Amino acid sequence: MKSLLRSMLAAMLLANAGYLMADSLADETYGTLVAADGTISLPDGFRQRWTHLGSWVVADSSAPGAGFHDVYTQPGAAQAYRANGEFADGTVLVKEIRALETGEKTTGMAQWAGETAVWFVMVRDTQGRFDSPHWGEGWGWALFEAKDPATNVSKSFEETCKGCHVPAQPSNWVFVEGYPTLK
Ligand code: HEC
Repeated sequence: MKSLLRSMLAAMLLANAGYLMADSLADETYGTLVAADGTISLPDGFRQRWTHLGSWVVADSSAPGAGFHDVYTQPGAAQAYRANGEFADGTVLVKEIRALETGEKTTGMAQWAGETAVWFVMVRDTQGRFDSPHWGEGWGWALFEAKDPATNVSKSFEETCKGCHVPAQPSNWVFVEGYPTLK
């Protein structure tokens, strides 16, 4: 009897896990990474603890986005997207851009990621929480440089981010085609 109760409880908990995950995602993001006035902080240790979504390489060193780009999100956010095809409230996307290193390896002429230059951060807000120039189209938008990771150097969503992200508007402003982990 006891073990039957226990397995019923376990099944109920599992069925609820999707909701619990989504709730705790928003609580965690808006409790730790976003201040009451909407100021966004760069998350800590995402490379070690978060889920890697995919990479981009912009090889032309004179291009605006030159470098090696790696994109990360919270494990729960990736799971929620795979389940629902949408970015859950509290989802954080971090794009880390690192310098491109090039050299001959035993595999061939290789390119790999060197020193970090900048981090681009997007924070999903389905509640319209903030009336701030750094928030728009259901996301918070921030940019941090390696030399000062505590300061958001983006002027505003409109000025610094929006124009370039318009091609991704149909997929909620995210270039999802580059993220095999979401499929
Ligand atoms: C020069 C154009 C350009 C600008 C400016 C720009 N982005 Fe992006 N962003 C892109 C493109 C294109 C991608 C995906 C391909 C890549 O990285 O090369 C991307 C990807 C991202 C990603 C990874 C998730 C995704 O949407 O695919 C984040 C996070 C991001 N940008 C945030 C920002 C923020 C925040 C700003 C403003 C502070 C900004 N971007 C400004 C073009 C731009």
